[in-house]
Amino acid sequence: MSIINESNQVLDIYTGKVGEQYEKLSTKFFADWKGKAIEESSLKKGDRVLVFCCGTGLDFPYILEKIGSEGYILGVDFSEIMLDQARNNIDKNSWNNVEVIGADITKYRLYNDIKFDAGVCTLGMSVIPKAMSAYENLLSNIRSDGEIIISDMQLAKGWKSVFNPLTVYISKKYGGTYKRHKNSTDISLAMIQNLKDVKKETFLLDSYFYCLGKKN
Ligand SMILES: C[S@@+](CC[C@H](N)C(=O)[O-])C[C@H]1O[C@@H](n2cnc3c(N)ncnc32)[C@H](O)[C@@H]1O
Repeated sequence: MSIINESNQVLDIYTGKVGEQYEKLSTKFFADWKGKAIEESSLKKGDRVLVFCCGTGLDFPYILEKIGSEGYILGVDFSEIMLDQARNNIDKNSWNNVEVIGADITKYRLYNDIKFDAGVCTLGMSVIPKAMSAYENLLSNIRSDGEIIISDMQLAKGWKSVFNPLTVYISKKYGGTYKRHKNSTDISLAMIQNLKDVKKETFLLDSYFYCLGKKN
């Protein structure tokens, strides 16, 4: 299947039932680890944060706790169903410093030259067919010394790899495939190789990770 068809298939998932029921379905399963990733980051008051695959905005509260009302979040996602829920959450919580826009994160370009202080993507890289382009795009929109924060599914190694078929199967409904979990693993390796002050933690028998690192 071509990358365009694969990407359309992911869009179909998030504009269909999964998108509509995302907040009910996704539960709080990953919440603690996602929160820990943000907590461990060097995000600080006033930072401007770019959030790729923002979905319904489940990461926004953790980020806002660090950056305060003087900071700013721009969330990007290509599903209007997910973005509608994000907009509801923004209104409900009166987050005046959060905006979301509809775009494909592999192609999205900033319309001005002001780079962000940090880039976040959670549970996105393991569902996007062109994840490495998305990662490179995220990196290109962040200033030098700015931080990248990724938390996602990955392929476990060694004896724990026996569980890979199961974790891929569970994530299938959300667009996860073996190849995409491998993409996500490769992104954390690229972060370890190319960023500085990198920290990676793994959970769930190494099937889930968060990785933080600063741009050179
Ligand atoms: C599993 S959800 C994660 C949402 C959110 N980060 C969270 O953790 O709750 C994946 C999100 O990625 C978005 N997505 C997938 N491929 C995308 C692409 N190429 N461009 C923009 N958004 C994309 C989907 O629309 C969906 O909202």
